[in-house]
Amino acid sequence: MEIKDTTSLIEPFSEFIDFKTATLKDAKVHIKRNASVMRGYYADEQALEKVIEEQNDPLHYETFEGKVPEEYGQLLFGISKLQAGLIGNEYFMTKGHYHTIIETGEIYICLAGRGYMLMKTQAGEVRYQKMCSGSMVYVPPYWAHRSINTGDEPLSTFFIYQGDAGHNYGDIENEGFIKRVYKHNGSDVIE
Ligand code: NI
Repeated sequence: MEIKDTTSLIEPFSEFIDFKTATLKDAKVHIKRNASVMRGYYADEQALEKVIEEQNDPLHYETFEGKVPEEYGQLLFGISKLQAGLIGNEYFMTKGHYHTIIETGEIYICLAGRGYMLMKTQAGEVRYQKMCSGSMVYVPPYWAHRSINTGDEPLSTFFIYQGDAGHNYGDIENEGFIKRVYKHNGSDVIE
């Protein structure tokens, strides 16, 4: 990625969030992540392979983003939409990430669905916040963050973070998030 040490002067603009469908109208960037990108993340690897095979690698989560330069001082924003379901008895989740510039935070506003924001530090501290429509989660600097959908409709969140923050998935692939969210006898269990 090109590293810039300047902040561009760009034109003010507005976007439209459709609260009914929890989508960003006229999103400039649409990134889709299918189930196969989650290899190595779920506890039950065979259950994930079964989903990939039987459902032809279905959509797992996607982001709709506005187009803003990835620079210090800008604010990147968009909507993350995570499908509902289970891999074995573990709820669908996103990969999760630290920011490359780790001392940058993020705000998530839940538009639709329900679930959790699971967070961890590199020292192994774990925290979670419940999300439902209207919840705002403040993810402070240094905390890796992952969304988990415990409902039966997509979990849609609006996010805002510093333009040059970047994403770092590296040590999550190796360490995971320490805790996982399962469905046991109809209830959410975090263990
Ligand atoms: Ni983030």
